[in-house]
Amino acid sequence: MLMELAEACQLEAARRAMFDGQLINLSERSAALHVGLRDLSDRAYLVNGSDVAHEIKRTRKRMYEFAENIRNGTLKGFSGDNINAVVHIGIGGSDLGPRFLTDALAGTFNNGPGVHFAADGAQTELKSILLELEPQNTLFIVASKSFTTAETMANAELAKRWISNAEGSEAVASHFVAITMNGEAAANFGISMDSILPVWDWVGGRYSVWSAIGLPIVCAHGQEAFEQLLAGAHAMDKHFESAPLSNNLPAIMGMLGIWYINFFEASAAAVLSYDHRLNGLVSYIQQLEMESNGKRVNHDGQVVSVKTAPVLFGGSGNAGQHSFFQLLHQGSNQIPCDFIVSAKGVGERHDEIVANCFAQSEALMRGYSQDDITGVEASPPPHLECTGNRPSNTILLDEVSPFTLGMLLALYEHKVFVQSVIWNINPFDQWGVELGKKLVSGIMVDITSGQIGGEHDGSTQGLMAAYCQAKKR
Ligand code: F6P
Repeated sequence: MLMELAEACQLEAARRAMFDGQLINLSERSAALHVGLRDLSDRAYLVNGSDVAHEIKRTRKRMYEFAENIRNGTLKGFSGDNINAVVHIGIGGSDLGPRFLTDALAGTFNNGPGVHFAADGAQTELKSILLELEPQNTLFIVASKSFTTAETMANAELAKRWISNAEGSEAVASHFVAITMNGEAAANFGISMDSILPVWDWVGGRYSVWSAIGLPIVCAHGQEAFEQLLAGAHAMDKHFESAPLSNNLPAIMGMLGIWYINFFEASAAAVLSYDHRLNGLVSYIQQLEMESNGKRVNHDGQVVSVKTAPVLFGGSGNAGQHSFFQLLHQGSNQIPCDFIVSAKGVGERHDEIVANCFAQSEALMRGYSQDDITGVEASPPPHLECTGNRPSNTILLDEVSPFTLGMLLALYEHKVFVQSVIWNINPFDQWGVELGKKLVSGIMVDITSGQIGGEHDGSTQGLMAAYCQAKKR
């Protein structure tokens, strides 16, 4: 019946429209062609009638050359020194994917320069990274589709000052690369045109790790690793594009989510990984799901009459067992869980880690009731009871490799897409984040001047006044 619902919502036609490069992001009148970024074949991908596949290939080649020149020492800093550290500056979709994958593959591929990530708008992350590095050996990647994001720009300016103070302002061009749609702003910042790699309007920020935004992955782990990542994602794309819905993993996962959210009112979902290499996964999937499907108005401008994306949380399953899992087992909310584990782990305790993972899904499913307790306690107290029948998926990867990670991320992307089709919402825009950004400048003026104007509501004025006073104390 769930698949009948998917058919009735024309999932197959929507899937076709995405792969065909139609302008499915209606509010921004753009395509969502991230699938084209990971297709290594000669297939054409049309946007507004023109094939973007050539541009994708050209950019990928430039990205590989760039990374290879760093890795083999051909690319030098301004003073002729080798580059042995890369600092990737970005936030949200321009940070989470490269950060997760660079870290997840550490120890398997590596052998490139040290790659660091700075997203935090207070600049503390970047400042502590810089303490360990030398300007003459450091290259900065400024990754921002818009090249206007405040946190990224503040970090980029700090990095620019750091280079200029040590090497002179003319050194900036030799120590910066930009990945952006806004080449003009990057050039005005002082980055040379040769060092600006494009992303396009048909790639959403949270779908961009497959584009030049993935440059730090190539710097750290090399071209081969990145190609395997793309190949894994592409394998999932082919499956999603062609498998009948009843046998189609993203469709099944998406519709199971619909079942829990819309028929059991699940308003949260957990992603729990049992492998420390996957620790960054939940932040990535959190943005993917909550920024994509955290919408209440559909394509026709109408309020959706059912619940849409749940609150997504999670992290290390093993650590979670000793903190928030209590609520998963006995809380009053039913929270569907995804358990993710690899057949090949690291360390001698991997069987035990896997056993823990399977024990959790078994416990959630079977529960623990009075019927289970024979002899030991004739009448167990209610606080021991676990109701069971709590749903979970378990995803067993053969190993943690670029290929399997590519498949995994593409699986979640398409699952999110499937759900967006059922709810008839646009998963590719994010207008909700704009209001907060707009309000910042007014608040900044007031709290830096200490003159709290009357244009804010009473609560916000109270907060600002309390902050200004506390600052003085
Ligand atoms: O503010 C939200 C957002 O626009 C995300 O959608 C995006 O991934 C992130 O900020 C970073 O944007 P940019 O790549 O333009 O700096």
